[in-house]
Amino acid sequence: MPRNVVVIGTQWGDEGKGKIVDWLAEQVHGVVRFQGGHNAGHTLVVNGKKTVLRLIPSGMLHPHTTCYLGNGVVVSPADLMKEIGELEAAGVEVRSRLKIAHACPVVAPYHVAVDQAREAKRGDAKIGTTGRGIGPTYEDKVARRAIRLHDLTEPTLEAKLKEVLEYHNFMLANYLNAPTVDYAQTLDTLRKAGEQIAPMLADVSHALTEARRHGKPLLFEGAQGTLLDVDNGTYPFVTSSNCVSGAAGPGAGVGARMIDYVLGITKAYTTRVGSGPFPTELFDDIGAGLAKRGNEFGSVTGRPRRCGWLDIPALKRSFEINGVDGMAIMKLDVLSGMDEIKICTGYDFRGEWIDRLPYGSSAVADCKPVYETLAGWKESVFGIRKFEQLPMNAQSYLKRVEALTGVPIALVSTGFERDDTILMQHPLN
Ligand code: GDP
Ligand code: IMO
Ligand code: MG
Repeated sequence: MPRNVVVIGTQWGDEGKGKIVDWLAEQVHGVVRFQGGHNAGHTLVVNGKKTVLRLIPSGMLHPHTTCYLGNGVVVSPADLMKEIGELEAAGVEVRSRLKIAHACPVVAPYHVAVDQAREAKRGDAKIGTTGRGIGPTYEDKVARRAIRLHDLTEPTLEAKLKEVLEYHNFMLANYLNAPTVDYAQTLDTLRKAGEQIAPMLADVSHALTEARRHGKPLLFEGAQGTLLDVDNGTYPFVTSSNCVSGAAGPGAGVGARMIDYVLGITKAYTTRVGSGPFPTELFDDIGAGLAKRGNEFGSVTGRPRRCGWLDIPALKRSFEINGVDGMAIMKLDVLSGMDEIKICTGYDFRGEWIDRLPYGSSAVADCKPVYETLAGWKESVFGIRKFEQLPMNAQSYLKRVEALTGVPIALVSTGFERDDTILMQHPLN
């Protein structure tokens, strides 16, 4: 029986999860998002045509695939409908293939207002959020005052909205010095969106359990990355959800036995967008070169991504937290043309040598990377689809990463196109 695979980011997001989920989705019944919201931006390139997905799972371009939004995903009705509209305009049938959990918390305009006003108030100490209202929505969920998708068509919506808006408007007016959000307009928008979304609501937990029972393989698609995880990341410079493999259970409404294999998506170097510590960050021409060749601009916000060398102590931490079975090394082509390539193998941490990323952002800020230097390669590896065709130094780089992490490489990506992918060990079987 094919394996159920959970695909997660092992760094600070934007590793290339979307590309790999799309590539794997050819062979599965369903693709399931289990956390995050439209703060994600997952890029798929098929025959030169680029699609950026934010909420919709990256299996959507395969017509036979069913796509699921588990209850752990926070859903902005307006942004979901916009994304559906864009896909439909491109000829993709979405509504009959998208199944959404009733319990997804709703991202509403007051969450966006609070997110942005808070960031403005923090000034230089800002998190650098995507400004999409993700954090305030998860806060409402945990505070037990969230409006969930199933509420949008219930008569109780009015009272629920009144309560939650009273809270947020108080914060906006009295603490954040920002304009408040209009009740009647919000109610009207949410009601209308509720009617559009209602036909797509489904018992996702049961559907996934049935798929498993009938031997139909599933992919669980993580958003963000492990170092942005609210518990395990560089707190407080993190997102507000758990983005690790174990979050697939509660976020999709399935048990721990549902996952057979954890695929850790890992960029061949490191990037980060937004604030927060980043030990291997490069501020020189080498960093600028990675950003340029890797086209490192946020797929959602367009913000430039900070770039640096591969960080093994951070990966070791991440691989342990996720129980990674295999890695997909992404964007190897971006490392071409360099005389030498560095890999961070440990940190000088307050005078001590450590080989695991410590917890908390102030500790991470004190990590001074210790590097090992490898010979680079001049040839382009763009689009190479066989390991043996890679230059010897590129092969050595990959082998060294395997040796340093102790985790095998399952896939290597050499370009943004779906099929610019080297298969080493198939995650699904
Ligand atoms: P995600 O959020 O993890 O899905 O990643 P993003 O889509 O935000 O960012 C990854 C970017 O790298 C996208 O623009 C992809 O098209 C691109 N990409 C993915 N794999 C490769 C690769 O192997 N080589 C190159 N050059 N680009 C890649
Ligand atoms: P994908 O799925 C990269 C970052 C933001 C900010 C922090 C908190 O495309 O990899 P939030 O809006 O979530 O409260 O912002 O998290 N962030 C991401 N960085 N890729 C993402 O998603 C991200 N989603 C959030 O930049 O630093
Ligand atoms: Mg992204």
